[in-house]
Order: sequence, then structure tokens, then C-alpha cells
Amino acid sequence: MTPPPPGCASLGAQSTRVPGPLARPWLPLRLLLLLWTAAATQGHPKSGPRISAVWKGRAGQDWVDFGLSEPHIVLFHEPGSSAVWVGGRGKVYLFDFPEGKNASVRTVNIGSTKGSCLDKRDCENYITLLERQGEGLLICGTNARRPSCWRLVNGTVESLGEKRGYAPFSPDENSLVLFDGDEVYSTIRKQEYNGKIPRFRRIQGEIELYTSDTVMQNPQFIKATIVHQDQAYDDKIYYFFREDNPDKNPEAPLNVSRVAQLCRGDQGGESSLSVSKWNTFLKAMLVCSDASTNKNFNRLQDVFLLPDPNGQWRDTRVYGVFSNPWNYSAVCVYSLGDIDKVFRTSSLKGYHASLPNPRPGKCLPDRQPIPTDTFQVADSHPEVAQRVEPMGPSKAPLFHSKYHYQKVVVHRMQASRGETFHVLYLTTDRGTIHKVVESREGERSLVFNIMEIQPFHHPAAIQAMSLDTERRKLYVSSQWEVSQVPLDLCEVYSGGCHGCLMARDPYCGWDQGRCVSIYSSPGPVLQSINPDEPHTECPNPKPDSAPLQKVSLAPNSRYYLSCPVESRHATYSWRHEQNVEQSCEPGHQSPNCILFIENLTARQYGHYRCEAQEGSYFREAQHWELLPEDGATAEHLLGRARALATSLWLGVLPTLALGLLVH
Ligand SMILES: *[C@@H]1O[C@H](CO)[C@@H](O)[C@H](O)[C@H]1NC(C)=O
Ligand SMILES: *[C@@H]1O[C@H](CO)[C@@H](O)[C@H](O)[C@H]1NC(C)=O
Ligand SMILES: *[C@@H]1O[C@H](CO)[C@@H](O)[C@H](O)[C@H]1NC(C)=O
Ligand SMILES: *[C@@H]1O[C@H](CO)[C@@H](O)[C@H](O)[C@H]1NC(C)=O
Ligand SMILES: *[C@@H]1O[C@H](CO)[C@@H](O)[C@H](O)[C@H]1NC(C)=O
Repeated sequence: MTPPPPGCASLGAQSTRVPGPLARPWLPLRLLLLLWTAAATQGHPKSGPRISAVWKGRAGQDWVDFGLSEPHIVLFHEPGSSAVWVGGRGKVYLFDFPEGKNASVRTVNIGSTKGSCLDKRDCENYITLLERQGEGLLICGTNARRPSCWRLVNGTVESLGEKRGYAPFSPDENSLVLFDGDEVYSTIRKQEYNGKIPRFRRIQGEIELYTSDTVMQNPQFIKATIVHQDQAYDDKIYYFFREDNPDKNPEAPLNVSRVAQLCRGDQGGESSLSVSKWNTFLKAMLVCSDASTNKNFNRLQDVFLLPDPNGQWRDTRVYGVFSNPWNYSAVCVYSLGDIDKVFRTSSLKGYHASLPNPRPGKCLPDRQPIPTDTFQVADSHPEVAQRVEPMGPSKAPLFHSKYHYQKVVVHRMQASRGETFHVLYLTTDRGTIHKVVESREGERSLVFNIMEIQPFHHPAAIQAMSLDTERRKLYVSSQWEVSQVPLDLCEVYSGGCHGCLMARDPYCGWDQGRCVSIYSSPGPVLQSINPDEPHTECPNPKPDSAPLQKVSLAPNSRYYLSCPVESRHATYSWRHEQNVEQSCEPGHQSPNCILFIENLTARQYGHYRCEAQEGSYFREAQHWELLPEDGATAEHLLGRARALATSLWLGVLPTLALGLLVH
């Protein structure tokens, strides 16, 4: 049987078996391009369709699977390297993604001593930490509830023994470990059964210190970072966390999001109570709310720090992803300078006397200890009164959305003519990644959600994501596999110059008749990101019409015509001669706009065009001519059409039902 003509979906093409996770044929990585825009001050993203396409990926090159399920993983990738290390259950995987070659995987078993482990379930050695250590790799894991570390050098594993604070007792514990030269900081508890109150500790380097048990209520640590300030003694550790809201007012949210500061040079205090505690701890509330719509996003999910290109620490942008009780999300952007200023200048919440000197939170030079009265005031009033608000005149979220975002990384990139864009990659709870472009037009921040990427072969939740700005790749892992996703996915944009520019993708532009990556093109390419109607910059005023495709069909046969919905912002219409036979409005959920012909009558032969319209952008996406069958093949085709009819309807009906539900 001849294969069905492309684009004109015939029945056989519909049946895609979905095999199990391990024995599956290669499926293309799917990209659904969608676009909404939001002005920062309004924060009302226009949800709806933009462009949809399928990125073919390269089998063997862009993803590799573990061969089994890894319920807890940790991913380690150094920018510029083609290697991705992943810690799993009792082993470390080394994935290599060499340019233009097939990926490879090696595994190293990391032994565990099951001896004293009582609880059967947790007697595995879950690797929870991977970190570069000189020539080697530091590996730490739960080791059957005896947290331990190993060193991997030249392919040989050497045990470093039990290391409390480097790995938790069980993989579910909220753990954060921060390395800065010889100093190591950790939120992991050191005792299995006592010391349940989570603390932020310095576990190696200078004198060991921990946070007072009263300064945080049930904290969930999100991210920690060291900031080298103008004077070394002023270097700070900032960490981001959520905690129970001390405000028990029934109207108040249950949890609040925070940023805390510590002086890196903190030497502890002078009194017996303060001697092994951080004496410079202060915390502030991180606000992410939209005053104009009265929407509050209290639950911090992830933080990404984007350093300033000129090395000004105050201009580091802090991207925070927040959610609300309905699992809607917002992204708020803060500056480290603002955070620093709040800690330096604010009064303390609930403290009305005059502040002691030195004021709480101040870093002292020459390793001076903090005086006891300063410690006592800070310890009993650890929160500053002023709240940390987003950057910019409106102090509003960069955008909010109905998606439940979980992780974020941000790429500061330069488009073809040198303009800077911040491109956010946000993971959703559906295992996809949204690519969101932040650009400026004068004072206005413009935000476009241009693409949804499904990075895995087997759709699954994204457990880890790492951005490599040198290789311009995103490395992501699920419990099944690791994928390498290029940032400059330009081949997915169809529709010629108009389609390429309408995508508003700063990595892509129009050059020599193709939508190309700015990195693969030697000179500048045609790009237009900001204007409302970028396609108007294309040299040809009108997009090309679709090539005419013909199909011969017997009278009375059932048939359907399928038009790929590339843009969730466009209206797609199937027109037969002058009449619109089917229209798919923006927001249409299925990937195709389908016209059914139930019983082909004489007047239904002729030309069918699928047209996409978005603002002033108009494109003919498909053009078919249905012709009466000639006598010679009529009998054969009629038989085929009948045979196909049943399976066609079965395959297509669910899509149709979905479309109807959505409308
Ligand atoms: C790369 O992997 C693909 C799919 O697994 C395979 O078809 C191809 O032969 C491999 N190429 C090389 C050079 O090994
Ligand atoms: C690792 O191997 C390299 C070359 O084989 C050698 O120069 C180096 O000393 C080795 N490192 C260690 C720590 O053994
Ligand atoms: C949020 O608050 C609830 C109720 O106090 C608590 O159970 C939960 O653990 C908190 N979540 C955090 C701190 O993320
Ligand atoms: C929000 O998401 C969390 C997990 O990501 C889920 O447990 C919870 O039920 C969701 N809440 C709502 C209101 O959908
Ligand atoms: C299609 O229409 C013809 C004539 O109008 C009729 O004889 C035939 O039964 C119809 N076929 C189907 C499948 O409904």
C-alpha cells in the first residue's frame, strides 16, 4: 500500500503505539511553540497559541537513558564540557555528548556498607552531591544512613569515610551544600535522631557555626550563594528559603519566602550562648505580588542568580519563581544591591528601641567578634522590617502565568545586532520547558513565551536542569534519561521569513532563504524581536503560498484534511473555494486543525486552503486539491478508502472530542 501523502493525514499514519519506557522507538522531541506577551506593569500574559512544530532531535546524540528508573538524581555539569555527571542509586553515570557524535554513557559503582541499616527501604546509597575537587570529583551519598563521601580520580574510587553534613540520611531530606574554596556550608543535619531543627551551618573552613534554632520556623532551603563584596570582610552568604508564617492571622498565607544574610567572616560571638552561632544572621521577606490585580505569590520555588556582565555584584539579577495556592506562577526579579540595602538600612521588625552599635547584621573587619548586645538584639529580632521588592518602578512581577513553574535558569544572550536579551527557561509540572524572552522597549519590559519544549523521549517530570552558556545547551534529567537541548532551535520555525520572525526568537533570524541560528551564521541575520508585527520587516511583503498538493478520491469516501497548528495565537481556517468549512480559534488545544469530509459528494471536490491569521499576519499553510479518481485506480482506491475509514475515525475522534471540549 502506498504511504499516505504527507500533511494530508490518512489513516495508517495515525496509529502510534506507546511502548514502555525502555523498549520504545525513537519519537521526535516535540516542541510546541506558544506565545504570550505581557507588559511588566500589567502582568497579564495573553495566553493562547503561537507556533507549534516538532524538533526531530538526533537519535543517539541528544539523549541517553539510564536503562532503569533513578528515583533520586543529582546532576553536575561544568560549562564548556561535553560531560554530564549524574548521581543515582549506588552509582554515578558519566554521560558524554561530544559535538556531532553519538552520546555515550559510563557508570561507576559507589559501594555502600549496609551493616547497620535497619529500615530496608532506605538502605541504598543514594548519591546526593557531586562537586569538582581538584582533578577529581567529590561524591557523597546516603550510604545506608551513614552519610559518606568518595573521591573519583582517574576512574578510581577512593573512600573518604563517613562525612556528616555532606549528605543526608535519606534522599528526601531538604539538603543544600555550598562550596566556596575551602569553606563548606550545609543545611543537612548531622544527627539522625536528634537535632531535628534545620540549621544553616558552616561545616568546613573557619570555625563551625550554625543558625539559632529560633530564627527560622520549619525552613525549606532553596538556594545559597556567596557574594564577594567590595571589601573582603564584607563578603556575604545569602540564602533563599520558605518557612511557616509567624503571622497566624487566618487571612495570612501559611508560608512566607525569605532571603537571609550572613557575613562570610563571621567568627561567632563572645558569650557562651553566641560562641558557635552565626552572629550576623538577618532575614527579610521576599515579596512577589501584583498590586494592580491584588495577586500574591508567596511560595518560592526556585532562584537563579544572573551575574552582571560588568562584574558589579550589586547588579546581579535574582530571578525567583513563585507560586500561589492554585499553582499559578509568577517570576519576580530582584537585585542583590536592593537586598544588601534592605539588610544594611532597615529597622528590625518588632524592635522599637534604638539599635545597638554595631548594628545587627553588620560585618566587622579584622575578625572582630560581634558584641553580645548586638547578638542578643539580632537573635531575638532576626527579621528586618523592610521587605525585599522586585526591581523596577512598578515593583511588580515580570509576569505571571497559569502554568506551575518549578525551576528556572536564565541566559543573557546577544542577538544578531548586539542587543541583549534575557531568555528564561522554566520547567513546568508537565515535564516541559518554556522558553520566555524578556526584552525591553524603553521603560517597558516585554515578555514573550515563545516555545514549549518537551525534552524527553519518554515524557516525565524534570528533576534537574543545568544551563551551559558556552556550549549553548540545556542539560535536563528525568528519572529515566538525560537530554541535551540546543538553545538555538531554529529549524522548527516554518512559514518562511514571516514565520521565522513572528517566532520572536532572539537566537534565530532569516538569512539566505532559511531560518537560521545566529551562531551558525557568519554575519548578521534579519531579526526583529520587539515590534508587535515583526513579519513586516521581511523583504517579501507576503509570505509564500503553500505548494499545491493533489489527491484523488472516490465519491462517497470519508476523508480528512489536517493543518498543523503552529501558533497558538493564530486562527486557522479551512476554506473550500469561497466558503470557510472549519475554523480553529486561538486556544485550540489539539496540534492540528482538522476538516472532516464525511461523504465526499461531487460539489466537495476542488481546492481546499488552510489559512492562518494572527494580527496582520496571514499565511496559507496548506493547499489541497481533491480530484475525482480516474477509472483505472477507482476500484482499488475505493477499497482502500473503505478499509481505512474505520481506523481513521477511531484515531481522530479523541482529538476531535478534545477540540469540542475546549471550544
Ligand atoms: C548513533 O545512534 C543512532 C541511534 O541509536 C544509530 O542509528 C547510529 O548508527 C549511531 N551512529 C554512530 C556513528 O554510532
Ligand atoms: C591521573 O592520570 C594522569 C595521567 O595518566 C596522571 O598524570 C595523574 O597524576 C593521575 N592523577 C592521580 C591523582 O593519580
Ligand atoms: C507551609 O506551611 C505549612 C503549615 O504551617 C507547613 O505544613 C509546610 O511545611 C510549610 N511549607 C514550607 C515551609 O514550605
Ligand atoms: C499544586 O502542586 C502540588 C505539587 O506540585 C500538588 O501536590 C498540589 O495538589 C497542587 N495544588 C493544586 C491546588 O492544584
Ligand atoms: C454517502 O452518500 C451517498 C449518496 O448521497 C449514500 O448512498 C451513501 O450511503 C453515503 N455514505 C455514507 C458512508 O454515509
